[in-house]
Amino acid sequence: MKPVNPSKKKLFKRLLFFAKPYRKYLAISMVSVLLLSIPGPLRPWLIGNMVDKYIVQSQNPSMLLFWSSILLGVLMVEGLLQLVSSYFSNLLAQSVIFDLRKKMMHHFLRFRMSYFDKNPVGAMVTRVVSDMEAITEVFSSGIMEIISDLFSLIFILVLMFLSNWELALMTLIPIPFLLFATKVFARSMKESFQQERMAVTRLNTFVQERISGMSIVQLFNREREEYKRFEKINGAHRQAHLKAVWANSIFFPVVEVLSSLSIAFLLVFGALHVSGKSALEIRSMYGEIFAFTLWINQLYRPIRQLADKFNILQRGTVRAERVFDVLDEEADLQEGGTIREVNFAQDVHFKDVSFSYQSGVPVLKKINLTIKQGETIAIVGATGSGKTTIVNLLGRFYEHDAGEILIGETPIQAIYLPTLRKNIAVVLQDVFLFSDTVHNNVTLGDATISREQVIEASKAVGAHEFIMRLPNDYDHQIGERGGMLSVGQRQLLAFIRAYVYVPQLLILDEATSSLDSESEQMIQSATEKLTAGRTSIVIAHRLSTIQKADRIAVLDKGELVELGDHTSLLQLENGYYKRLYDRQFFNQNQPE
Ligand SMILES: Nc1ncnc2c1ncn2[C@@H]1O[C@H](COP(=O)(O)OP(=O)(O)OP(=O)(O)O)[C@@H](O)[C@H]1O
Ligand SMILES: [Mg+2]
Repeated sequence: MKPVNPSKKKLFKRLLFFAKPYRKYLAISMVSVLLLSIPGPLRPWLIGNMVDKYIVQSQNPSMLLFWSSILLGVLMVEGLLQLVSSYFSNLLAQSVIFDLRKKMMHHFLRFRMSYFDKNPVGAMVTRVVSDMEAITEVFSSGIMEIISDLFSLIFILVLMFLSNWELALMTLIPIPFLLFATKVFARSMKESFQQERMAVTRLNTFVQERISGMSIVQLFNREREEYKRFEKINGAHRQAHLKAVWANSIFFPVVEVLSSLSIAFLLVFGALHVSGKSALEIRSMYGEIFAFTLWINQLYRPIRQLADKFNILQRGTVRAERVFDVLDEEADLQEGGTIREVNFAQDVHFKDVSFSYQSGVPVLKKINLTIKQGETIAIVGATGSGKTTIVNLLGRFYEHDAGEILIGETPIQAIYLPTLRKNIAVVLQDVFLFSDTVHNNVTLGDATISREQVIEASKAVGAHEFIMRLPNDYDHQIGERGGMLSVGQRQLLAFIRAYVYVPQLLILDEATSSLDSESEQMIQSATEKLTAGRTSIVIAHRLSTIQKADRIAVLDKGELVELGDHTSLLQLENGYYKRLYDRQFFNQNQPE
């Protein structure tokens, strides 16, 4: 477990900083909370006086009624203050969290892909959702109530000492024990909070992954095992919670006993005092004893709650630390250049480009390749040879380690990222679709792309027919990740996506899966339409695509080993491409 960060205070300050734009709410809730600490302790004092003056000394029902209505007034003011403080502290909390969540999402959107390689989705979801909730509580019930509790404590003590200091001292005897118990309690709560926090993250990650990978789980009959593993994680979560509950269930009876002790001391004191006193003198103490009984109750409640409230602060700060860790992750942020005007209708050069995802494991080694403007180049090679990695570098999802990638003369790092990505359309190997309509999956929310454009594009790539067969054609909701479409159909949607964006540079990472001959033919003609007249890099698995390319680049274990067209590569004596071809490496199911 992580040691307690020495800069907890700093962390808390940083959290408070987020409340700065909402100073008004903070001020209103602060003032109302301060005012709120007055009427409570005042009530016992009023009641004590009423008992003394209008019951013990003189029986005066009309004055009793008068003071009772004052008491009612005090109660109403208290209720009103409660309403104001609770509304504004929650408003403050929600506003702060709204901003923080926005900032977090904004940050996530800018991370490089390498960040997502390292961090499980479930953990990131936990940061944005449940960690934020814990931070909300810091503002809604943490800080404000601690302030209110502290003030009412002080106010009660002052009133107690003012009315009878000996009685006050006597009843305070159990307080040091209470403080000690509180401390022990707070420590054990903190531990269980930390465990709980980790358990929540683990639960989220586990559930998210199993649900995403449900087909694998079921296909390999892993249900029982996964269920058992889940039970373990779920159990750890319960354990962490139970520990907190256990601490609570010990702490509260202790507080009860101690507060009863205070009352007992109060009575003992009373008994000692009355010996040898006249009846009148004894009766003059009724009011005080009455008031003290109420005060003692009021005194214990905030002390008992303080431990709770500090725990909320504690938990919120622990979670905030995790959130800030993400916000501080600058190394993984994408950085774009500044050049916005670049002609993408130029040759693309790879010069001595090397790259590794993990240091020490080179994936691309000194790649030298020029893709001429307007040509279609096919990249072929065994699985894992680094083909997709070339796409990742060109789209700047990852940064190459050495060498240069140039569009004409301009290195891609110098190009403003949105400009770069607007001009390069990538059809990825695994098509990702959102749980949205066909139309929105093509436009990705870009309102400037009209329905006509989408239809035109889908006719061009030959997808119009199958879309029209869907229940609501272009407004058909495809399930999450496009689960309700076939692989070929998903690929076609990705083609439409690329087509409507009319890029200068097209990158197509063909799916490795083989398709039935009808889909094959559709994809084939779609590929031809897409690549026609624009610089295209096609990572090809299909022989038909490869043969139609102007040139073929052959990758082997991260190295460019051969370059040329189909016929010339086949003529190479003992060539790598020829060997692949002879082994029928490529998908050869040609459209008939
Ligand atoms: N995000 C990543 N983090 C670490 N290593 C990776 C990552 N992506 C790919 N690799 C590794 O880099 C190497 C090249 O992967 P790449 O995806 O470029 O292969 P590929 O040629 O596209 O293969 P395929 O034909 O199967 O799609 C592989 O050895 C792979 O293990
Ligand atoms: Mg690949």
